[in-house]
Amino acid sequence: MQNRLGILERFDRWSDEIRELRDAGDRKGYFQQELPTLLQERSLFVPVMEAIVGGGEYPDVRPSTMFDSEIVLYRDPGRLFSVRFYLWGPGEYDPVHDHNSWGVIGTVLGTLDTVNYQRLDDGADERRAVLEECSRQFIPAGRTYAVFPLNRGIHRTGNASEPAIVQVGVYGENLTGRTYVNTFDVRTGEVNRLYLPHVKKRMLARRALELL
Ligand SMILES: [Fe+2]
Repeated sequence: MQNRLGILERFDRWSDEIRELRDAGDRKGYFQQELPTLLQERSLFVPVMEAIVGGGEYPDVRPSTMFDSEIVLYRDPGRLFSVRFYLWGPGEYDPVHDHNSWGVIGTVLGTLDTVNYQRLDDGADERRAVLEECSRQFIPAGRTYAVFPLNRGIHRTGNASEPAIVQVGVYGENLTGRTYVNTFDVRTGEVNRLYLPHVKKRMLARRALELL
């Protein structure tokens, strides 16, 4: 049995303290204070990386996630937040997407490239959107960047040219009730729904079952 990693004690403390905060804005503010400190404690991340490399029990890289580069580090038992890890090679980015919650993200290693988009259409067509790049921020290690739900937080994050990026994100509870996020093709205006792979398989099976 692998020893429990030290970083989990931090997450447990967050879980205890976050319960006292009633408002989503206060919870996000709490992580804007806490995350930069954690990001600077590189020694806490070494055993996490070693466990990933060595195939340890924690963190478990096998459960399906929406993004290939994503590993879940912690889920708050009260479901008020989760902590996620993202590893980016040079030139790797996620698709342009929105979110179901607030978030606070930053890196332990490498400068994160974040490209933010503004939605120019009225959102009436679920399958199409007109987006315009409105800002781009490079977030150095130890600094954080705020994520917003739905159209206020459409962005793309990744690695412009670093040898490797180790990113940590804390995300709040689902505020939208959706089981997907939207991904956007900025050039064509196409909007697609990105589901967790196992959720999508169930959905497709349900649809097929009705036709069998
Ligand atoms: Fe994101």
